[in-house]
Order: sequence, then structure tokens, then C-alpha cells
Amino acid sequence: MKIAILPGDGIGPEIVAEAVKVLRALALPLEMETAPVGGAAYEAAGHPLPDATLALAQQADAVLFGAVGDWKYDTLPRPLRPEQAILGLRKQLGLFANFRPALCYEQLTHASSLKPELVAGLDILIIRELTGDIYFGQPRGRRAAPDGPFAGAEEAFDTMRYSRPEIERIARVAFEAARQRNRKVTSVDKANVLETFQLWKDVVTEVHRDYPDVELDHMYVDNAAMQLVKAPKKFDVIVTGNMFGDILSDEAAMLTGSIGMLPSASLNERGQGLYEPSHGSAPDIAGKGVANPLATILSAAMMLRYSLKQPEAADRIEAAVQRVLAQGLRTADIASPGCTVVGTAQMGDAVVRALG
Ligand code: NAI
Ligand code: MG
Repeated sequence: MKIAILPGDGIGPEIVAEAVKVLRALALPLEMETAPVGGAAYEAAGHPLPDATLALAQQADAVLFGAVGDWKYDTLPRPLRPEQAILGLRKQLGLFANFRPALCYEQLTHASSLKPELVAGLDILIIRELTGDIYFGQPRGRRAAPDGPFAGAEEAFDTMRYSRPEIERIARVAFEAARQRNRKVTSVDKANVLETFQLWKDVVTEVHRDYPDVELDHMYVDNAAMQLVKAPKKFDVIVTGNMFGDILSDEAAMLTGSIGMLPSASLNERGQGLYEPSHGSAPDIAGKGVANPLATILSAAMMLRYSLKQPEAADRIEAAVQRVLAQGLRTADIASPGCTVVGTAQMGDAVVRALG
């Protein structure tokens, strides 16, 4: 099992080092190779996604990614900016399924803006289609409105579209993921108004016939936005399109209140994936040894579960994180009264010890 390790910029190298420490402690046959990405790669090789880094990512079963970006690259031309590395990897690897879990540990409910009883123990997974929908649909552009009450005025337009195979493959990913969890999928659409999401609903319903052991329900996106705040624990896996998923996954992340805790994954049709924390490169705290490595460590657990098919190892890491929090250890971003504040490396060491 080969893993490409791409630490990147800012706190990226610090948090990835801790995840690598935890992976090594599992004593699995993991082959890990590191390559530069983002601003670090621009400095070293003149490009945020050098050919050698891309080749390594393509050969690997999975990519563990830290974060990229720093204000000092803001003046570079767009193709050379660090964030182009992420876009390039998504495109080149065909990563169409974005997994964004929202987990709220009992010990951290104070960080959420919701009532503790609504979020304590929350564990949901939002699966967002990442390569289609209104963000990429053609045609798009600006023109003089051809008709209607504002004919002749400047207008802008985008096209929402999904094809049957695109919906089928994301639906399959969602049902498969649900089998690794609590066997319940909620498909979020706007089928009452949009033709695109009528097809979405039809296709998800058809694909569901192959997964009779998984429960499926359908919900309109406006209702889903409400239910996420009202009763988030009712969900297990939510599957939706690119735009609805963008919005709902940020909403769900905020239910937990701690960005330093949230992992994410993007997968392709071969099950290859890119795993990264949901947060960015945090240049404000880089190099200080205080960043929270848990989102990255939990991303490594997702990598074991979804790309490397090592669910027991994933369970071990997730349980170790629970234990460390129960011991009262906290990095500064999740600190609360009565807890012990530790640095990045100490947190990583504590997770290794808690692996048992
Ligand atoms: P950010 O997520 O890097 O930081 C937001 C705030 O959260 C900061 O105060 C930071 O110190 C804190 N924070 C983030 N991660 C933390 C951690 N693990 N432990 C403790 N505190 C943490 O977002 P921001 O400031 O908007 O962006 C900073 C840079 O990161 C920019 O260059 C941006 O483009 C880049 N970025 C990269 C992403 C990626 O690589 N996928 C995603 C988002 C932003
Ligand atoms: Mg967003």
C-alpha cells in the first residue's frame, strides 16, 4: 500500500508529521513517500504541482495532504499560486466524491454554537459531488438579456446539469460508504423545482435497488438545512450535488465548532483518494508547534477506511483520538478550563500511546 505524503505550506508539515507518526505506529505494510506541493513546491521547483509530485500521487493508492497557501504568494500569477495544486490534483486524479464528516466529540460540545444535547456524539458524513453541477456546467457567461422584462440589460447565467452516469457513480459511493457506517443515506435535492434534481432523485432511487440493506430517504435542500440545525443526529450519510454540498458541508462543520478537528477526503472511481484536514495552512500559527494535528490524523484514519480498506486500523486511530480527549489533552484551539494544553508533537505522541 503506497501513500504519497504531501505536507505543503504553513502548519502542513507539522500536522502531517504527526499523522505519519501515527500511521507508522500501526505496523502495517505502508510505503510512504514525501513530495513538495503548494508554495513549498513553487520555491523548490518553480511550480505548485511539479510533474514528479503529480506522478507520485498518481502511482499511490492514496495521498495524505497537509495544506497549501500563504499570503506571500498572493502576487504570483494564478497558475503558480499554491491552491492550484489542489485543483490540479482533483482534476488529474478525477476526484469526484468529496467526503466531509461532521463529528462532535462529547468532550468538545462546548465549542459548538448548538445545544450540547443536539450535537454531543454527532457523527454524520456529507458526500458532495465535486466535478459537476452549476459550478462547471456550460454554457455560462454574460450577455444582453435576449427577452423578458429586462431585455437588453446585461445579464449573467450559469447552467446546472448532471448526467445519469455522474449521478450513478456518486450514489454508489454513498451507498458503499453507508455500508461502512449505519446503513442510512439521505439524498438531498430540489426535485420540486429543478429538472436536474428530478433526474438526480430518479437515478439515486434506481441505484438504491442494488443496496436493499441500506435505508434511503429523500429531502429537499431547504429542509435539510433546517434539519441539520434542528436534529442533526437523525442523519448518517447525506449525498448531494456540488453546490448544495458546498453549503451543507460548511453548515455541518460549524455544528461541531472545531475546525482543527475535521478531516476530509476526495475519491475517484478507482477508490484512490486525497485525504486532508478541512482547515487551511494557518500561517498565523505556523512554525510554533501549537497547531492541532487531529484533523490530519483523522484524515489518515479515513484513508485507511476508504482507500486502503483497513477498517480496523481506522477504528484504532479514531478510538485513540477519543481516549486522548477523554484524558483531557487539548491543543490551544480546543482548550477549555480544567484541560491540559499540549503542543502539536505532544498531541501526536499521545495518540500513538493511546493506540493500545
Ligand atoms: P485556515 O483554516 O488556515 O485558518 C483559519 C483560522 O483557524 C486561523 O486562525 C488558524 O490559526 C486556525 N486554524 C486552522 N487550522 C488549525 C489547526 N489545525 N490548529 C489550530 N488552529 C487552526 O484558513 P485561512 O486563514 O482562511 O487561510 C490560510 C491559508 O490557507 C490561505 O493561504 C488559504 O488559501 C489556505 N487554505 C488552504 C486550504 C487547503 O490547503 N486545502 C483550505 C483553506 C485555506
Ligand atoms: Mg465551501
